[in-house]
Amino acid sequence: MLVVACVLCFSSFLRPLLANKELHFPRWFKFGAATSSYQIEGSWNVSDKTPSTWDDYTHTQPHRIKDHSNGDVACDSYNQYEKDIEMAEQLGLDFYRFSISWPRLLPKGFRTRISADGRQYYDNLINGLLDRGIEPMVTLYHSDMPKIFQDLGGWANPEMAEWFADYADVAFSLYGDRVKLWITINEPLHACDSSSRVLGVVEPFLAPYLCTKTLLMAHAKAYHNYKKNYKPMYQGKVGIAHTAFYFGAKTQDDSELTELFRQYNFGRFMHPIHSKSGGWPAIVVELLKNISSKEGFPRSRLPPLSKHEVEFIRGTNDFFGLNYYTSRTVRRAKAGEKRPEYLGNLPEFNAIFESYPNSTATYPEEYSSYPEGLRAFIAWVTKNYGVQDILITENGYTSYKDDLNDFDRITYIEKHLEKILLCIYEDGARIHGYTYWSLMDNFEWKHGYTAKFGLYNVDFSDVDRKRTPRLSAQYYSYVIKSRQIDSNKWKSQMEDTNDNKKPIADVA
Ligand SMILES: *[C@@H]1O[C@H](CO)[C@@H](O)[C@H](O)[C@H]1NC(C)=O
Ligand SMILES: *[C@@H]1O[C@H](CO)[C@@H](O)[C@H](O)[C@H]1NC(C)=O
Ligand SMILES: *[C@@H]1O[C@H](CO)[C@@H](O)[C@H](O)[C@H]1NC(C)=O
Repeated sequence: MLVVACVLCFSSFLRPLLANKELHFPRWFKFGAATSSYQIEGSWNVSDKTPSTWDDYTHTQPHRIKDHSNGDVACDSYNQYEKDIEMAEQLGLDFYRFSISWPRLLPKGFRTRISADGRQYYDNLINGLLDRGIEPMVTLYHSDMPKIFQDLGGWANPEMAEWFADYADVAFSLYGDRVKLWITINEPLHACDSSSRVLGVVEPFLAPYLCTKTLLMAHAKAYHNYKKNYKPMYQGKVGIAHTAFYFGAKTQDDSELTELFRQYNFGRFMHPIHSKSGGWPAIVVELLKNISSKEGFPRSRLPPLSKHEVEFIRGTNDFFGLNYYTSRTVRRAKAGEKRPEYLGNLPEFNAIFESYPNSTATYPEEYSSYPEGLRAFIAWVTKNYGVQDILITENGYTSYKDDLNDFDRITYIEKHLEKILLCIYEDGARIHGYTYWSLMDNFEWKHGYTAKFGLYNVDFSDVDRKRTPRLSAQYYSYVIKSRQIDSNKWKSQMEDTNDNKKPIADVA
């Protein structure tokens, strides 16, 4: 009896796991790849463009960048966007996610003047994509704000919500007839808890919380404006691209601490938008109230959201965007144990974050591969906010290698897509699409050009920034075409058909 029961449970446990390599992505599921303006465009000082925060940062503090580099030229996409479009077409992408450089479109930051050249550049890119049947997905803010706003306190200044909404309105009015997928802000967590620190201009104590509120208000203003003034005409969708490591409790005893950290680290950005009740997560309000009162503050460092603000922010999503790369385990620190500084880790958490022992190493190591985390994250989102329309807005593998035979990247993509299939078919998640980060190697913030995420290799020593497809580009185009992920099958097909050996040509 016992034996029979075990065989049954064993086989029913294994069957779906064995079968999922055979599962196909449904027809409606869309595949894309992503980049962002500062990381690829270059041409930082052409025409009437003014410096962004990242232009200023890399020029004044080059030692903060691993290889002392900057995005002055990057992939030269401002001049070579046609090659990017060609690559997207060769991959067979359904959509291409890129961002608008705010200071390129609005050199003064404010909507007082629209740059003719900036406007033309994005017109050309959007039209070029549509000509090839590729849907443009546009991010409005991807880390490069006009420097003038940093001088005004950046996202810690509540007025930023208005200035951002003005900029978003300009973009909707210029491109809304052709762009149907909009992401207001990329990675609010990094904008508030780390970018401000990376850029070294905003104080770390209050600014992250002021930033959180301002970002949410900025996003909501843009969302409401689109819904009222553009959606009836264009029927597009607006969302935000969250990011976080997924956090799992190291032991059962650590689960309460882990859940508190999840709510603090990413629930703070997600709950106000996606939950049924809106507003800050109650536990985070309590935490910050406790901490602030211990510190002697008369009020919580987390600014309150009025009833009106709660309602204004709640439900401002047409989809739940998630950038997922990696996960960490969480455990309580032992007495006297040194705690490495961790993004948004308050002293009170007294927690240690570690890579999963069975995660696969990457360079930089902070991105170690842990595909299970993606499925757990989606399950957490569903449990906390109900079933959402989800879009994986970024996911990718990084290495220091220039290598074109990037089997590790292929494995990373395959394993993560496998989890997405399980989310869809076994967990009932409504995931509509997957975006690989990145279309090509590019300027990877503090890692400069040392961290390579690209399906296409870019030769940064070549004035022409020659782009060359990696094997992963061929694998990804196979996935998109066949709707299946089995890399062994792909390999044997490649070997079988000589014609198929090099389905993707170099883009010289
Ligand atoms: C633009 O910046 C580059 C350095 O990236 C510099 O060589 C060039 O002279 C600058 N051009 C103008 C017009 O300032
Ligand atoms: C806040 O402080 C109260 C009273 O000390 C305590 O019971 C509660 O657990 C604390 N909450 C958090 C989230 O730290
Ligand atoms: C990886 O380790 C975690 C806990 O350490 C475990 O829950 C998970 O099942 C493991 N995954 C694999 C694929 O071994």
